Amino acid sequence: MTPRIFRAPGRVNLIGEHVDYSEGFVLPAAIDFASTVAITPRLDRRIHVHSRQFGEAVEFPLENPGDFEFGHWSCYVRGVAAKLEEAGCVLMGADLAIDSDVPMGAGLSSSAALEVSVALALATVSGFVLPGLELARICQSAEHEYAKTRCGIMDQFIAVNGVEGHALLLDCRSMEHKSVPIPPAVRMIVCNTMVKHQLAASEYNNRRKDCEEAARIIGVRSLRDAPEIPDNLSGNPRRRAQHVLEEIARTREAAAALISGDLTQFGSLMNASHASLRDLFEVSCVELDTMVEIARRQPGVYGARMTGGGFGGCTVNLVDAGAVLGFRETVEREYFTCMGIKPQIYVSAAAAGARELT
Ligand code: GLA
Repeated sequence: MTPRIFRAPGRVNLIGEHVDYSEGFVLPAAIDFASTVAITPRLDRRIHVHSRQFGEAVEFPLENPGDFEFGHWSCYVRGVAAKLEEAGCVLMGADLAIDSDVPMGAGLSSSAALEVSVALALATVSGFVLPGLELARICQSAEHEYAKTRCGIMDQFIAVNGVEGHALLLDCRSMEHKSVPIPPAVRMIVCNTMVKHQLAASEYNNRRKDCEEAARIIGVRSLRDAPEIPDNLSGNPRRRAQHVLEEIARTREAAAALISGDLTQFGSLMNASHASLRDLFEVSCVELDTMVEIARRQPGVYGARMTGGGFGGCTVNLVDAGAVLGFRETVEREYFTCMGIKPQIYVSAAAAGARELT
């Protein structure tokens, strides 16, 4: 039997960082890097899965996908299978071969790409067509329980719903979304610092706790509802809340600027977002700050900021199409001079969301 092939992309977030789990607004775009799954159904209820990246195979029965080591790549596959079944999709067993070119641990959502590609593959061959939002939520809950990261909905949502040539303004409360074209005169350049600091997952969960604590003290369901920062809020919860409130406002403003073609305004909002993530939310690091500073000195750069969860990973830069070559060469050289690390620099178009390849 010829396998069917499914693909789901990674993402960059242009602005709206660490606000999805406070029900704010985000503006991500899917990228050209993706996770690809070749799938053939089996007659028993077993999943056999091979990862090309890890050169390793794993198998488990659908009745009991939960027996695994945390942190292992297969936890995403097990989690997605378990969550699909919990949602009422009785799955067929399957042989899966997974390949991905989304850089791992780089803040480009390689895990959401993996989850969504596997979920779409398993559901489709078993005869289920799920609404996009449900698919994204199933993958998000797999990540919560099987990878122990209490992520928001942004990464899985954009992996499902990405639109070629567009970023997506997503309201993480109502889940209404609107695609916003990326002007043809600019390119999204992603610079990988090549570092991933140890504490990324636990610190992510800590930041989320700080935001929940701030919302509790203010007396609102989530920080999205806080009209302002009250005087009795102090310390970390105060700083986190200030970031969230300002970042939500910045993101709405940035989307309007992108729609009206005001790239200068858009870029300065990106820069302000980085400063806030560094100083108030405290999820940046010296490598990200250095990368952003170098980038901003280059001609044709509108804005530069860290993207994704932080503590290493990538920056996203909005750069004039004509300035891309010079940017790449200089940033690569100067980052190496400062940090002693050769970065990876990717120029990516905004890509489409998950689909079956025919
Ligand atoms: C990670 C999470 C997202 C989001 C970002 C920060 O990518 O998976 O839900 O919270 O961090 O904006």
